[in-house]
Amino acid sequence: MYLDNAATSYPKPEIVYEAVLHAMRDVGASPGRGGYRLSLEAGRIVFQARETVARFFSISDSSRIIFTHNATGALNLALQGTLAAGDHVITTSMEHNSLLRPLYALRNKGVELSIVTAGPDGVVSVEDIQQALRANTRMIAVSHVSNVCGAIKPIKELAELCHKAGALFLLDAAQSAGYLPIDVDNLAIDLLAVPGHKGLLGPGGTGLLYVANHVRLKPIIQGGTGTHSTAEEQPLVMPDGFEAGTHNLPGIAGLHAGMEFLLERGLATVYQHENVLLNQAEQALRDVPGVTIYGPVDPSDRCSVLSFTASGVDSALLATELDHGFDIAVRAGLHCAPLTHRTLGTFPGGTVRVSPGWSTTREEIAFFSDAVVQCIAKIRKSA
Ligand code: ALA
Repeated sequence: MYLDNAATSYPKPEIVYEAVLHAMRDVGASPGRGGYRLSLEAGRIVFQARETVARFFSISDSSRIIFTHNATGALNLALQGTLAAGDHVITTSMEHNSLLRPLYALRNKGVELSIVTAGPDGVVSVEDIQQALRANTRMIAVSHVSNVCGAIKPIKELAELCHKAGALFLLDAAQSAGYLPIDVDNLAIDLLAVPGHKGLLGPGGTGLLYVANHVRLKPIIQGGTGTHSTAEEQPLVMPDGFEAGTHNLPGIAGLHAGMEFLLERGLATVYQHENVLLNQAEQALRDVPGVTIYGPVDPSDRCSVLSFTASGVDSALLATELDHGFDIAVRAGLHCAPLTHRTLGTFPGGTVRVSPGWSTTREEIAFFSDAVVQCIAKIRKSA
């Protein structure tokens, strides 16, 4: 039983597998790299996927969407492509290494970095972020939803704060895309980094970065774009100049199908389904002696994941017992987010994190909850 949809979603809807196979078996060619019909068909697949991304996130201009290989690629492009020595960036202690590590690398090159610490429930105060603003603040870069405890940040307030301060707003939607609605044009989000393979239900190796029209982005990878072939410098044409090299056509086709599935079923319906399951798991685990649940107390302030520990029980061992004894896949440890665990008080042991998906059932969550109780008892007995 797969309960690690926060790492990557599985299984995918059937239409995703079909779209991947169609792109591989029936099209096969590289988009934008030939004038023959198969290449043109590949180009159409990529164009239509871009249009669907635009529709999904309420983006008026689909040419501002760059396909990447994951959210990490999108975040690196957003950060390295906009920031320079002397710029100041504000982030929080609730971030994943995909955001923190590129920022640490930029700090070594003269970018100033402020990390605002969240409360022990994982909630970051907008006032604290406001307090961190400086005259040279160029960007506020945060995740929408914590990948450890699911705490949701108030992105409307943060976007407004950014715009008042004249800073760019970079939103890491790794754990929220496909869960919560994100209206890019309405919120005037400047940069949006999205994985294709998590909530959007696409294959691994897919992701995207949206870049608002007014943002001057530098390419961080140079190479063939299929156009402007005589230019020695990387063309700045959107999106081609930022998608050098051969596209992941099967991945993009599958991502398109994943988004179509969500649009058809309704994002709110999928979110509601997963939230009911998370609440069911939480209620069952809260009653287990010694179990602590992390994140905001009000379930409506978190989504997509539930993290917990059991006193006297190693989180990694509990996850292994669930896997070996019950064939249940959950992720334990630090979840690539060490500062988050320091904030929550779960460093260095980490937590056990469960993340149901669109196809998870209530029966599976009941089985999982019973299995947790049995594994905790077994580990405590053998200690
Ligand atoms: N960021 C992914 C996770 O939290 C991989 O598991």
